[in-house]
Amino acid sequence: MIMTALDRIKPDVRALDQYVVKGKPVSPSLIKLNQNENPFDVPTAMKRETVEALMSMSWNRYPDVLPVHLQKALSEYTGHPVEGILAGNGSNELMYTVALAVVSRGTKVLMCEPTFFLYEKIVRLCEGTIVTVPMHEDMSYAPERIIDAARRERPSLIVLVSPNSPTGQSVALADVETILRETDALVLVDEAYIEFSDRPSVQHLIAANDRLIVLRTFSKAFSLAGLRIGYLLADPAVCAELMKVKIPFAVNAFSASVAVSLLKNVQILHERIAYIKEQKKRVEEALQGISGVTLFPSDTNFLIFRTEQSADLLFQQLLNDNVLVRDVSSYPMLDKVLRVTIGIHEENNAFLASLKKHLS
Ligand SMILES: Cc1ncc(COP(=O)(O)O)c(C=O)c1O
Repeated sequence: MIMTALDRIKPDVRALDQYVVKGKPVSPSLIKLNQNENPFDVPTAMKRETVEALMSMSWNRYPDVLPVHLQKALSEYTGHPVEGILAGNGSNELMYTVALAVVSRGTKVLMCEPTFFLYEKIVRLCEGTIVTVPMHEDMSYAPERIIDAARRERPSLIVLVSPNSPTGQSVALADVETILRETDALVLVDEAYIEFSDRPSVQHLIAANDRLIVLRTFSKAFSLAGLRIGYLLADPAVCAELMKVKIPFAVNAFSASVAVSLLKNVQILHERIAYIKEQKKRVEEALQGISGVTLFPSDTNFLIFRTEQSADLLFQQLLNDNVLVRDVSSYPMLDKVLRVTIGIHEENNAFLASLKKHLS
């Protein structure tokens, strides 16, 4: 039998759908509330400074294999030893790194459902076996179910996204401790949204638990989604193994230097987070007052809500008013649910006005 080009592609890859983000191209009039970004850009003065620094860089030279300068700055910022830090081209890259190091054919990976889509995709690419544990109906974590499933299935890796995307709630610190104690799996806690959370990070548990890995990103609170920086905190011995797997030179020198500048100016970050939290409270109250809207609790910079209308129709109606939210209704348990990122005051007002119009 003659093999075609596509026959040479792994069946697990051919079974995947391509990643698309529904919406329309970014323009000044588009109110973009679909990807949980920080609504504020990096301050212009800081941009100018880094562009100048870029002029004095040698573009013909490779950056460091790993961005050592950034990893040192991250060590100061987090208080975690530098040997236990790995920076990547967005935290997405580091998810692949962990999976490549841990998951082979049949390796069991436990994750809650619904959760960030990329984990399932990567595990499938590595031919691992996914063990899913449903959230409670209100989208809170079900730690007892996680422990039951872990005892039964003995996964090698447990993924906890906290606060979770696309739903917004966190897993309690005590529950992560119990999960670590009651299982022998590596536990990856994705804290992409931790800066917006009212719950503590689990980072300090790494010192006594070499099976814990914490993943963070500059794409949300740090306003840097376009420059692609993420980082991972782990036990130094685990980190040393993950380094072997990582794509060399994946973090470019420009993005690394911007991230270092941001770490020197974290007070801006705190001001912006306080603003977003205030706006979130206002949007939550407004949504609670709209009849036909069921709001879910959120511990971060986005909200999910269910209406009685088709999510696809409501998404399109909002988009016709230039308000771009995320249709998350195809995730398990999220029928008729949309997700909205908290933006600046005027953006939130535009979203609320459009939603009220279409639900009345
Ligand atoms: C749970 C979760 N992890 C990580 C990321 C960010 O990935 P990156 O750092 O690659 O931008 C996102 C962004 O949507 C997310 O929702």
